[in-house]
Amino acid sequence: MKTVLGWLAALAFACATQAAMAADPAAVYGQHCAACHGADRLGAMGPALLPESLERLRASELDQVLHDGRAATQMPAFAGTLAEPDLQALARWLRTAPTAMPQWHAEAIRASHIVHHAPGSLPARPVFGADPQNLFVAVEAGSHHMTVLDGDRLAPVHRFATRFALHGAAPSSAATAAMSTWPAAMAGSASTTCGTWPMWRRSGSA
Ligand code: HEC
Repeated sequence: MKTVLGWLAALAFACATQAAMAADPAAVYGQHCAACHGADRLGAMGPALLPESLERLRASELDQVLHDGRAATQMPAFAGTLAEPDLQALARWLRTAPTAMPQWHAEAIRASHIVHHAPGSLPARPVFGADPQNLFVAVEAGSHHMTVLDGDRLAPVHRFATRFALHGAAPSSAATAAMSTWPAAMAGSASTTCGTWPMWRRSGSA
């Protein structure tokens, strides 16, 4: 009995020291993550890190992203930078809702819109010959450009600069649908307006 109690005491002590050793996860986040994921965790250049947006990641997947980063993206590996207890505390903290829930209203979305071509300022007919029902959009994450491809010939129709490290793209069917109802967009730029919506979910591996 004495031995069991001794073990329990040792275990409790070990847990307590480990908890004590972990740095404050909010401070760790502020120092290492906020620049890319937003001070309020609502996302910036990187995605939102809130319980709602992380719920589809298994615990082991979250651990892996924190340890190893995500290959071919801007998400760095932290295994060499942060101690194991800090990474664990950070993972637990990310699964916990912030005390003040960040706000992102329709008004803020509208305010973030950049209108590249005002409605009516482009020719009414497409200036490219590509079939608007068969277009592909390629996001060039490394060079911060996007290319619209003619799906029949897999040849570039138009390439344009995007904002820094733009992530993901509409699936080609959705893009095609959007483009076919949007002929003016074909004339100059693939999109006439774009806004920021940081609470996106990752779609596929793009
Ligand atoms: C230099 C910018 C940058 C920094 C710094 C950074 N991240 Fe990221 N992070 C990203 C980007 C970009 C992605 C999206 C990667 C992708 O396309 O899958 C990402 C993805 C993630 C994901 C996966 C989210 C999801 O929904 O799949 C987690 C979790 C994450 N980061 C946590 C962190 C934490 C915690 C820190 C700080 C310790 C941190 N990141 C620091 C840029 C960054």
